[in-house]
Amino acid sequence: MILVTGGAGFIGSNFVLDWRAAQMSEGVVNLDALTYAGNRENLAALQGDAGHVFVHGNICDHALVEQLLATHRPRAVLHFAAESHVDRSIHGPGAFMKTNIEGTFTLLEAARAYWATLNGPEKDAFRFLHVSTDEVYGSLGPNDPPFAETNPYEPNSPYSASKAASDHLVRAWCHTYGLPVLTTNCSNNYGPFHFPEKLIPLMIVNALAGKPLPVYGDGQQVRDWLYVKDHCSAIRTVLASGRLGETYNVGGLNEKPNIEIVHTVCALLDELRPSAAGSYTRLITFVKDRPGHDRRYAIDARKIERELGWRPAETFESGIRKTIQWYLDHPEWVLRVQSGAYRDWVQQQYQ
Ligand code: NAD
Ligand code: TYD
Repeated sequence: MILVTGGAGFIGSNFVLDWRAAQMSEGVVNLDALTYAGNRENLAALQGDAGHVFVHGNICDHALVEQLLATHRPRAVLHFAAESHVDRSIHGPGAFMKTNIEGTFTLLEAARAYWATLNGPEKDAFRFLHVSTDEVYGSLGPNDPPFAETNPYEPNSPYSASKAASDHLVRAWCHTYGLPVLTTNCSNNYGPFHFPEKLIPLMIVNALAGKPLPVYGDGQQVRDWLYVKDHCSAIRTVLASGRLGETYNVGGLNEKPNIEIVHTVCALLDELRPSAAGSYTRLITFVKDRPGHDRRYAIDARKIERELGWRPAETFESGIRKTIQWYLDHPEWVLRVQSGAYRDWVQQQYQ
C-alpha cells in the first residue's frame, strides 16, 4: 500500500489513476478533504477497484492520519494535498497556512511516529515524498538561468510562501529526525481533470462557452508547462530511486509566455471545434494584472535526468493537443464542475 494525500485533485487523481493502471499489485489509500478542488468523479474509473481505498478526511486531523498509517501500514506517503491556486491565496491566505503548513506538519509527525514502529527492511524502504512547486524559488528575470535545486527560496505569494514553509519542514524532519524524505519541485502542470480556474483549462472552457479569455497584464509572464502524466512518471521515478533527503526539480522543457499559450489554445480549438462566430482569438481580453505577479518561472531539470534518467515524454504541442481533446471529449465533467454538481457526484452515482 501507499498513502496518497489530495488524490481527488488534479495531479493527485492523475497519479492515482496511473498508479493503479501500472501497479495493480500495490494499493492506494487516498486521503482527501474534498475541498472545492477535490472531485471524486476524477476517480470514477476506479469504481469497484478494491485496491483503491478513498478516505474523506483532512490531513490536519492527526488522529485520522495516525489511524490510517497504523491500519494500512503503507510503505510510502505521497503528499499532494494542498491549497494550490495563487489567486485564491491572495484573497484568503488562511486556508493555505492551515493545509499547506499545518497539514504538512501533521503528516510529518504522524509519519515519524509510524516510521519509528517499523523495523529492518520495512523501515529502510519507507519514504515520505513531498510534492512541491517551482514557485518557492521566486521570479526570474528574462536572462536568468532556470531554477536549480540550489537556488535560494524567495517565495512571493501567500501560496508559494506556504509551500516554501512546508518544504522547510520536510527538510528539517529529515535532518533532525532522519525521516526518509524526498521532495519534488515542479513547474506548471496541465492535462486532464484540471480545475478550470487555472490558465489552460479556464481558456478552453471559456472559449467553448463564448466567454472572454482573461489575460493578466501584458500576457508576457513566462511559465514552464509540464504535462501532468509526465509529472506523475517523475514522481514514480523519484519514489523508486531518488536519493534520501534530496530535492528534484521537474520541468517540461516548455518555457512559454502566457499570451502564446492562449493563442495556441485558440488555434487548436479553431481546428478541432471551429466556431461560426470566427476565431476564438476574438475573445482574448487583457485584464488587470495579479498583484505581485511573478514574471518568469523556468526549471533546470538536469539533476533528475542525470541521476534518475527521467525526461518528459510529451512536447508542448503533443500535450496541449491531448489536453484540448480531453476537454472536448468530456463536456459533462466540465458542466458538472461549472455548476457545482461535481460535489454531489458520489451521491448521484451511487443512489
Ligand atoms: P488541486 O488544488 O487540484 O488539488 C488539491 C487536492 O487536495 C484536492 O483534492 C483537495 O480536496 C485536497 N485537499 C486540500 N486541502 C486538504 C486537506 N486539508 N486535507 C486533505 N486534502 C486536502 O492541486 P493540484 O494542482 O493537484 O496540486 C497537487 C500538488 O502539486 C500541490 O501540493 C501543489 O502545490 C503541487 N503543484 C501543483 C502544480 C500545478 O501546476 N497544479 C505545480 C507545482 C506543484
Ligand atoms: P495559473 O494557472 O493560475 O498558475 P500559477 O499562477 O501557479 O503559475 O496561472 C498561470 C499564468 O497565467 C500566470 O502567469 C497567471 C496567468 N493567468 C492569466 O493570465 N489569466 C487567468 O485567468 C489565469 C487563471 C492565469
